[in-house]
Amino acid sequence: MSEGRDTAIYHIDSGIAWLSFNRPSKRNCMNPALNRRMLELLDEIEHRDDVGVLVLTGEGESWSAGMDLKEYFRENEAKGLHAIRQAQREAYGWWRRLRWYQKPTIAMVNGWCFGGGYGPLYACDLAIASDEAQFALSEVNWGILPGGGATKVVVDLIPLRDAMYHSLTGELIDGKRAAAWRLVNESVPLADLKDRVTALANVLLKKNPVALKATKDAVRRVKEMTYDNAEDYLVRAQEAANSFDNEGRKEGIRQFIDQKTYKPGLGAYDKSKADR
Ligand code: COA
Repeated sequence: MSEGRDTAIYHIDSGIAWLSFNRPSKRNCMNPALNRRMLELLDEIEHRDDVGVLVLTGEGESWSAGMDLKEYFRENEAKGLHAIRQAQREAYGWWRRLRWYQKPTIAMVNGWCFGGGYGPLYACDLAIASDEAQFALSEVNWGILPGGGATKVVVDLIPLRDAMYHSLTGELIDGKRAAAWRLVNESVPLADLKDRVTALANVLLKKNPVALKATKDAVRRVKEMTYDNAEDYLVRAQEAANSFDNEGRKEGIRQFIDQKTYKPGLGAYDKSKADR
């Protein structure tokens, strides 16, 4: 078990794991202890039967002020290359783990979101920000390029002109602009943020979990494939998913075609009946 156990915390409520950056006095910037703890907690939560969706948020007024300039950068640079590489592995490791997480994930961006914070932001499948949240690639303001994947994140998510402007100026944008640029799905007033995220999580909780995992992975994978490769991948991914879930999709067809109890175009089938 690592030191800094309280640098990240979680609780579970009605199928949702609420995982938080927990260094509010340091604006939830990510030091090595936090990065190690996040990986431990992601492990602990991932296959729990009482969790269907994971929400990543921040305690206090920040989501995350990015990497810890003192503990992540300066102190590791003083120790040498081995320490720098280890700190990178720990940070990138939990973000990668989150990108391919078993359960669907939502970033609930409640405040400051800077630099390295774009790694876990992108790793979450969906992102809802408060209108009041503030985002920036501030690296240029203190003299480095947006590393740790941050440049890749903006180029993947937002139009090139906006990505270039955002990276070169280091200017802040609020949640509304972040939503307009598609850095997040949407923004809502801070007072409504938790309700909106809970409602979205509840939509996901009603879906077939095998289908959710197969779908979220497919969306990320096919983005980098040719059409033909994607077509092939999707056939195989569905066939692999079938071996984990033989009954769910058959029940989905049965409830529509035979029982006429729902319409797939308008909502999800009743999962509870599939378990019988
Ligand atoms: N790394 C290290 N320490 C950080 C930090 C970071 N990324 N972000 C905040 N902190 C620390 C501050 O040093 C300060 O520590 P102290 O109380 O020991 O003096 C504490 O968190 C509070 O920060 P402060 O600057 O006083 O808060 P603020 O509310 O006035 O401003 C920010 C908030 C986020 C605008 C400001 O802290 C900031 O610019 N942080 C750096 C953001 C950044 O560029 N991150 C990218 C890193 S790749």
